[in-house]
Amino acid sequence: MSDFLLSTLLLDWYRIHRRELPWRETQDPYKIWISEIILQQTRVQQGLEYYNRFILRFPDIKALAAAPLEEVLKYWQGLGYYSRARNLHAAAIQVATLFDGVFPKTYEDILALKGIGTYTAAAIASFAYDLPYAVIDGNVYRVLSRVFALPTPIDTGRGKKDFQQLADSLIDPRHPALHNQAMMELGALQCIPVNPDCSLCPLHSICVAAATRTVADYPVKQGKTKVRDRWFHYFYIEQDGFTFIRQRTAKDIWSHLYEFPLVETEARTDTAQLVLSDDFLKLFGNMQLTMEIIMERKHILSHQHIHAVFYRIVPLQPVSLPQGYLRIPLAELDNYPVSRLTHLCIEQL
Ligand code: ADE
Ligand code: SF4
Repeated sequence: MSDFLLSTLLLDWYRIHRRELPWRETQDPYKIWISEIILQQTRVQQGLEYYNRFILRFPDIKALAAAPLEEVLKYWQGLGYYSRARNLHAAAIQVATLFDGVFPKTYEDILALKGIGTYTAAAIASFAYDLPYAVIDGNVYRVLSRVFALPTPIDTGRGKKDFQQLADSLIDPRHPALHNQAMMELGALQCIPVNPDCSLCPLHSICVAAATRTVADYPVKQGKTKVRDRWFHYFYIEQDGFTFIRQRTAKDIWSHLYEFPLVETEARTDTAQLVLSDDFLKLFGNMQLTMEIIMERKHILSHQHIHAVFYRIVPLQPVSLPQGYLRIPLAELDNYPVSRLTHLCIEQL
């Protein structure tokens, strides 16, 4: 395509249709970084709230590096994928120690930071420093696959390489930041996943999928990744204004977050089977107690489906759990970072 025609059409559209968002009104690489990591987790509307709260509490990279991890997790609570928050914190410490608190300025140095992959490195390099690296998120894959009717599945190594090469070649070197923002915005507002109104699209005149009425066929995906089913039984123990929680430490989902005592089973297990299981007996032995279901919920993570049941347990005698459990006043429950799933249960108590 000659003379960056696509980029020209795109930027004319973007100047009119762009949403004003705080991370677009800054060239501060720290703020751009935070916004991009948050936006990998959630949509713009909810992301705005998290972003504003986060930046208010951690206004620059030194503030983030100096904060305790648990507080960072607390500000991340509800977004899910907590490794991203742990990596943010770790990378902030990297920048504080390796670069004296000054955010690195080259793509390679940015990419070397913890938790920063090619997507985030390109976003920071282009938005903060106007370097010509193409940013490719789900929106951009969709736009490009349709405009060029590309048959390569986007969820393959080959696809990632082909799309990156194409996307890099489309950048008008005079406007890398604007071009990238505009591509993402077109995917978010105009070239939406289902039934986009192509007659309103600035790329209509050059879009192969629109011309061949095959928009719904793109992007091509090879296949879904396997999903693992897990069965979690949580016990909210209520006794004299106290309850019990534990911090997850294993290399598993929700590492470092807190939760109620948990028994995981290999398959669906009803209450009658559960109370006879070894793991349940390890927690409660032959203790006299009453037990009722507070909440049942299937919680969807990217590669796992958690079938969760929360029980309320009222022991009729003093409780002593094995090591590792904290006994805390109910009023302090809100001080601990927890998964979105556990938070849903706490809201119902
Ligand atoms: N999603 C991811 N990055 C974004 C950005 N910079 N603006 C709007 N939506 C986004
Ligand atoms: Fe997407 Fe339609 Fe625009 Fe093509 S013409 S980029 S399919 S909205």
